[in-house]
Amino acid sequence: MHSLIYCSRESSKMSEDKLMALLKKARQKNEGCNVTGMLLYRNGFFLQCLEGAYDDIKNIFSNIMMDNRHKMITILFNDKIEKRIFPQWTMDFIKEEDLNSEIIENLKKFDFSNPVNSQEESFDLIKKFMFVRSAKNQQAA
Ligand SMILES: Cc1cc2nc3c(=O)[nH]c(=O)nc-3n(C[C@H](O)[C@H](O)[C@H](O)COP(=O)(O)O)c2cc1C
Repeated sequence: MHSLIYCSRESSKMSEDKLMALLKKARQKNEGCNVTGMLLYRNGFFLQCLEGAYDDIKNIFSNIMMDNRHKMITILFNDKIEKRIFPQWTMDFIKEEDLNSEIIENLKKFDFSNPVNSQEESFDLIKKFMFVRSAKNQQAA
């Protein structure tokens, strides 16, 4: 099992409709190759976690990298994982309203405009955020 986490910045303002269209397409494609994960959109920045077979992640990410709806793509994590964090989500979508105060505090510490600056620390914050989020989903399911 492989996981890739990156962040990026929107190229131009994404409307709700555009985001929903992007998400719909992403979910369809991810479902077809058993890729799961989450996509966070906040203040014009994206943070995405993809998990699945290495070749599938590689294919999907090569499309994502060429997508001109976003720019400044920075990989934060790209490695093997033991098991999925988001097994039940072809792409869990997180908006501002979905964030609780603990998660917001974590995200505030993460500098999206300069993510490589403190990569270790950033990644720890993101992992924490992802686990809080996935635990919440599991309770809801
Ligand atoms: C922030 C962002 C996240 C995306 N996430 C995914 C994804 O999880 N899976 C996916 O297949 N495409 C994703 N895409 C879309 C791809 O970049 C690309 O548009 C799509 O794979 C093209 O599919 P098509 O060639 O069948 O039209 C994402 C794009 C952006 C900008």
